[in-house]
Order: sequence, then structure tokens, then C-alpha cells
Amino acid sequence: MDKVLVVGGGAREHAICEAVCRSENAELYSVMHNLNPGIERLSKDYLLAKETDVEKVVNYAVDKKIDLVIVGPEAPLEAGIVDALERKGIKACSPSRKAARIETSKEWMRSLMKKYRIPGSVEYGCFSRMIDAKRFIEGLNGNVAVKPVGLTGGKGVRVAGDHFEGIEGAVNYAREVIKNKIGGVAKVVIEEKLEGEEFTLQAFSDGKMIIPLPVVQDHKRLLPDDKGPNTGGMGSYSCKDGLLPFMNKDDYENASIILQKIVESLRKEGCEYKGAIYGQFMLTADGPKVVEINARFGDPENMNILPLLESDYIKICYAMIDGNLSSQKIKIKKKSTVCKYVVPEGYGIKSITDSKIEVDEKGIEKIGAKLFYASVNKKDSGIYTTSSRSLAVVGISDDLYDAENICEEGLKFVKGDHIFIRHDIGTKELIEKRIRHMNSIRMS
Ligand code: AMP
Ligand code: GLY
Repeated sequence: MDKVLVVGGGAREHAICEAVCRSENAELYSVMHNLNPGIERLSKDYLLAKETDVEKVVNYAVDKKIDLVIVGPEAPLEAGIVDALERKGIKACSPSRKAARIETSKEWMRSLMKKYRIPGSVEYGCFSRMIDAKRFIEGLNGNVAVKPVGLTGGKGVRVAGDHFEGIEGAVNYAREVIKNKIGGVAKVVIEEKLEGEEFTLQAFSDGKMIIPLPVVQDHKRLLPDDKGPNTGGMGSYSCKDGLLPFMNKDDYENASIILQKIVESLRKEGCEYKGAIYGQFMLTADGPKVVEINARFGDPENMNILPLLESDYIKICYAMIDGNLSSQKIKIKKKSTVCKYVVPEGYGIKSITDSKIEVDEKGIEKIGAKLFYASVNKKDSGIYTTSSRSLAVVGISDDLYDAENICEEGLKFVKGDHIFIRHDIGTKELIEKRIRHMNSIRMS
């Protein structure tokens, strides 16, 4: 029996834990900062601790004689958790701190793509002096995305037309990023604004090759019809053919090639990338361009894909670590999925925390939807919101709109006085709007 430790207490990690438990020879342990009731139930034992407290997590892994660690979120990777585990002889199916810089430093990711001439690059500059940032913004006529260099949980990026207007709006936010060291460094990345439809391609990587998974579309904006501030992601969908209604096989192939080349470039840089890798792409008139690369599964995108995995997840993890992914035949159910998050009211601005949520788990199960708990706290009297996303419900079916319907039916079994859901995710209306948008971009 392999003892497997999953680090993280969100819905992405709940889905990882479930895949671990479906594996033939695995016994689950977990570390989380909140008491996630779904993970608690699946685990043989768990530790409540900050996931970035590397010493505590490593000591726990040593104490429990853990064979394999899977890290869900990015922050522990940046804190060097994989390197610390390896020093103790414990295997991890997640990237080292050096390899995880592909996510933790947007500047490094862009420079790597430039150095190795990887397709899908964008025009960008990285600045610590406002005078230089301003000149660059003016050169692109204010048509830019302004990003902190470091991690901000997907919430630090602002885009022209969506969050600010014109050169002045871009300059003001760039100044704020530098002055307040948003993302941890007094530096800002300015990129050309990409026009198109976004999609996520996740893959397994063994350091040399990738196995790409079905693509997913996330919804970052808080409010229906893609309004409001950016969030960690409000929900997502995927289709049974592995593509999305607005993208074709060539787009998929091109995105896979980009991820493969990124993995190869990391190897050349002396930091082989092992574990799940995530590419956020914009499908533009010139094909897929890289918005960001993450050193982990996506949240919510993981909940669309891991539940469909029919192969033994732990065997795949060992194949990634051992560098022989080519030996694996990976089977994924051909189904469509829709995932919607239940978040606390005020999420993305000022969440109402510690508010009770009633979840009828049996009801959700009965109609065939899946439930993944996220940042909730289980107490004796029930389940309570924190400031982050609370739980996700996933509908799975042959037909996308049927999956959406199952998801909605499942959500009826979740009740709370202060919860919010983006009900438009996965609906025909929104998806047809996306198809029209992409058609107009391709014709422009
Ligand atoms: P990131 O945290 O880099 O994924 O950015 C958050 C969101 O901002 C992305 O999902 C996009 O919707 C948007 N975004 C980021 N970079 C760009 C860009 N260069 N052009 C247009 N939109 C962008
Ligand atoms: N869904 C966005 C992320 O995982 O970063």
C-alpha cells in the first residue's frame, strides 16, 4: 500500500484526493489549513496546518512514512516544499521551486518563451521604473494587460477595456503595482492585450514529454456575462470530444506543442518539470497565445477532468516522477462536464465569512452530480464559509447542456443566506455568444 499525502484543502484537492482513493494501492493522508469535510472523510489521517509551513508538512510526511506527495496549490511550491521533501527522500509528483517559477514569476516565464523561441509568445516588457513602463504602455497605445510579477491568486491582473480605460488607466494601475509591491515585488509586467477566447489545457508531464488532457473553459469574472472583477474562477465546462465549441483540432495541437516546448525548455534550464502542468491560452486570430502557465492543476478546471480519469492516477504519478510517461495508456471518459462554484456573497470584493451553508449530499448524489468541498470550515454545528470559494458542483453527461442541467439540479441541494453562484456558466446562451465572438475574431 502506498501512503499518499495530498497538500491543500480546496475543491481541486478534494478532486485529487478522490482520484487517489480510486487508485488501486493508495492510502490517503492530507494537509489542509481549513477542515474540508470531503477530504477529511477520505483521509486515513490529516494535519490542520498552513500548506506553506514547509517544515511542519515535511515533518508530518516523515512521521507518517509517506511514499508520495501531491501538492495542489502553488504557494507551497514557491516555498520550496518539493525540494524539502526530496531532501528527506520523499517523492513528490509536483515541480521543484525552480521549475515552479514558470508560474511564480511571470517575467521568467515570458523570458524563457523568448529565449527558446516558443510559439504563442506575446509582446511584453517588465519594468521597475514608471518612466519605462509608461513609454511601453504608450507604444501599445494603452491596449495592454497590466500584471504584478509574482503570485496574486489570479486577482492582480487588469486588462484595458475590462478594468481600466486608455493609457492613463494603464499607467495608474502600473504605478499602484510598483508602489504597493503587489505580488511581492516592486515590478510590473505589461503585455499586449490579446483578443479572443480563453481556454485551459492541462497535461501530465514527466520532464521530457507531456500527455495533454481535454481542454476546459474557465470563467474568471465574478458576475454573469463576464462582468465584475477577476476571481480565482467561478466555474468551467468541457466537452466530450476534448475540444471546445469554438476551437478545432489544430488549435488543440498547437497549444499542446507550446506546452511540450515549455517542458523541454525547462529541462534545458536544468529544472525538469514533473507533475501536472497548466496552460492558460487565448485563442486569437493567429492561433493560441500563452496568457499564463501554472505549475499545478487548475481550480476549477481540475474538477472537469480528474473525475473522468479511468486509469490509475497513482500509477500515472509514479510514471511522471520516473520519467516514463510514455509507458502509460491514459484512459479518459468521453463525457461533457459543467462545474459551478458556490462562493460566499461578496467574494472577490469582501466576502461574508462564517455564514452557514446547508448541503444535502445525498440529494446531490441521487441526481448524479458530484460535490467537491473547497474553503469551508466544518464545525460541530455545520459547514461555514471562509473568504474563499466554498464548494463546487459538477454535472457530467454525454451532452454539454444535459451536464449543465445536472449541475443546476445538484446546486438546488445547497442552501445558504449568503451564497452566490454564476448560473450562466455552461448555458447555451453564453456558449453561443462565445462561438459568435470567436467567429468574429477569426474573420477580422
Ligand atoms: P492571469 O492571472 O495572468 O491568468 O490573468 C488573469 C486574466 O486576465 C486572464 O485569465 C485573462 O482573462 C486576462 N489576461 C491576462 N493577460 C492578458 C492579455 N495579455 N491579454 C488579454 N487578457 C489577459
Ligand atoms: N482557474 C485558474 C487557475 O487555476 O489558476
